[in-house]
Amino acid sequence: MQHDVATARIARNAAALSLPDPSQLVLRDRAVHVWMLDEHVIGQACSSLAYTLSQDERQHARAYRHERDRNNFIGRRSMLRWLIGVYLCCKPESLRFNVSTLGKPVLQRPCDTRLAFNVSHTDGIALLAFALNCRIGIDVERRINCIDCIDFVSVGRGIFSPAEESVLASARTDPAATFLSIWTRKEALLKALGGGLLIEPTSYTTEDALAPGEGHWHASKKGTRISGWTCLDLSVGREVQGALAVSLDDARVALCRCSPSIWANSYSFAGMPS
Ligand SMILES: CC(C)(COP(=O)(O)OP(=O)(O)OC[C@H]1O[C@@H](n2cnc3c(N)ncnc32)[C@H](O)[C@@H]1OP(=O)(O)O)[C@@H](O)C(=O)NCCC(=O)NCCS
Repeated sequence: MQHDVATARIARNAAALSLPDPSQLVLRDRAVHVWMLDEHVIGQACSSLAYTLSQDERQHARAYRHERDRNNFIGRRSMLRWLIGVYLCCKPESLRFNVSTLGKPVLQRPCDTRLAFNVSHTDGIALLAFALNCRIGIDVERRINCIDCIDFVSVGRGIFSPAEESVLASARTDPAATFLSIWTRKEALLKALGGGLLIEPTSYTTEDALAPGEGHWHASKKGTRISGWTCLDLSVGREVQGALAVSLDDARVALCRCSPSIWANSYSFAGMPS
């Protein structure tokens, strides 16, 4: 499959791939698919796929005060449903989500699925990550432009570990980039672990892992390396930084740019379980 050729080693520089043929959408063991949705795609998904949302999700959407936020939620949740439907060969509207005790969205129906997923979004961009039999977390943030007026060390306090604070304090050339890198890595890791920022963020440290190549990082908890994970920075745009953490050794990560053609391309859920 085309996007399986992008391995973890080259994911940082991989060209964005669009996948016009959903029948080719198969997740193999150790493969991770990261889908990038821009505001155009989210808008299209909002108008074409909103019918797949559950009553709960419609109610959740109605609670957004701003139309743009509401539409962004509807679009990314619809797209999440559509992609999971394709991966699991079932109708998107048949899926039921629940949240774990610490708030991580998980699939309730179908139950016993091997599919793991996670979502992140920021100002018109969303990343949706999928893999089998693992814990997965993703984060995306826009770069902060007001560099001079921000004390990044203070912003990271209570979230960054002492080791991360000292990396940030010694960043002279581009502290905003260093901050964003640590922040996205930390959130991706904590979202993979399921608790987000609720789970003692300062006891985890993320740092560059030079051995596997540029863009790789690793994580430790209270000084002990967390092994068997693939952790990557994701370059998703000039002003946007992403990070992925997945509990799979040497995972093959593909970054796929989503276009409306993938659901308009006569893919049919007819006959699939509902
Ligand atoms: C989870 C958390 C890191 C998200 O950070 P963020 O930068 O604001 O948001 P992101 O865009 O990266 O991620 C949002 C997505 O993460 C997912 N998410 C929510 N809680 C999560 C968790 N505990 N673990 C993993 N993923 C989570 C959802 O899919 C959400 O998407 P949605 O808005 O479409 O529902 C942050 O909200 C947090 O740490 N919260 C603490 C957990 C919490 O408050 N739980 C309350 C219930 S006990």
